[in-house]
Amino acid sequence: MLDQQPILTNLVLTGLRGVGKTVLLETFKPIAIGQNWLWAGTDLSESASVSEESIALSILADLSPLVGNVVVAGTEQPRIGFGATPEKLPLRLDFALLKRVYEQTPGLVSDKLKAVLELVWASLKKTDVHGVVLAYDEAQNLGDQADRHQYPLSLLLDAFQSIQQRELPFVLVLTGLPTLFPKLVEARTFAERMFHVTMLGRLNDAESRDAILKPMQQQGCPVRFAEPAVVEIIWHYGGYPYFIQFLCRKMFDTYLQQKASGAVNPVVTVNQTVRKLDSDFFAGRWNRVTDRQRDLLAVVAALPDCDEEFTVQEIVEQSKKLTKPFSASHVNQILAKVAENGLVYKNRHGRYSFAVPLLGDFIRRQEAEA
Ligand SMILES: Nc1ncnc2c1ncn2[C@@H]1O[C@H](COP(=O)(O)OP(=O)(O)O)[C@@H](O)[C@H]1O
Ligand SMILES: [Mg+2]
Repeated sequence: MLDQQPILTNLVLTGLRGVGKTVLLETFKPIAIGQNWLWAGTDLSESASVSEESIALSILADLSPLVGNVVVAGTEQPRIGFGATPEKLPLRLDFALLKRVYEQTPGLVSDKLKAVLELVWASLKKTDVHGVVLAYDEAQNLGDQADRHQYPLSLLLDAFQSIQQRELPFVLVLTGLPTLFPKLVEARTFAERMFHVTMLGRLNDAESRDAILKPMQQQGCPVRFAEPAVVEIIWHYGGYPYFIQFLCRKMFDTYLQQKASGAVNPVVTVNQTVRKLDSDFFAGRWNRVTDRQRDLLAVVAALPDCDEEFTVQEIVEQSKKLTKPFSASHVNQILAKVAENGLVYKNRHGRYSFAVPLLGDFIRRQEAEA
């Protein structure tokens, strides 16, 4: 992507929670820096309700530390209005300057942002820098809010489309849950052509096995996972780096603790450890779900394909087995609520999936114990 001239394609890196998006994104950064690109960006986890202005200003804040030392020639930029200072003091692209340009540019937030990005590039192109990557993790949190008349997502897309048309080398990398790309396209249909979408899927069995065994081999560790445990972990949790790492680490720690407290032959099983996974990972999410929502999710968990996709109609059918079945409109309402809590998401074909891996298994475990 860094070889594009001009930039025609940006990147969306997507996948369920815990598949390794953030870790992978971090590995892109040194590649970009190694090729003389600047890398800016943040984690948008807490950005559910940002405004256009706040996303624009956060881009300035992300950029300014990287360009803060670049000196812009004094008289070339009369618009930025340093009228009171007649001498040509070295003027640096620090946050204060970027913000001043932003504020003094007339028009919409997107015009202001574009003016800043153009100034930044006009100054950077005299240096060795080839371009700028703006990378945002958890970008599914960014959303337009028509009721508040705030369209931060559209702003971002508009600004990038426009500066890329003017052949400015700014690349956008967005990482997030599978809701992300549909959201982009919903905001601006041209987003469809603007991004290459890479979906991080599950590890295969051999990769899962490596994820379990290699770290201990590489550390020359005296403790080993017995083959049945490896098979068990792969069978139930294989494919998801987060779960593999969680289970292996807990099992390892428990083994060491038992050893330290005098056990000669400590025994740690996958099953015991799964309880910890339930309480540490799933329970917090589950506790935010109301009873009626839980009833509905239990219906979903009973569907044969719940780990892939499910539809409102399938849920309605399945719920006819209950004493209080769900109507289609009720299912739609509840799914919308549960989606807000980040447990399910709706894909572009109007079908739903769990947004948390292996949620179906967890719900079935809860049901079995209830
Ligand atoms: N390639 C990998 N090999 C081993 N473990 C990984 C790998 N990628 C991610 N992990 C581990 O899996 C967990 C989840 O990764 P993360 O990047 O945070 O997932 P995501 O951002 O998709 O939710 C992390 O604790 C990380 O250490
Ligand atoms: Mg992440």
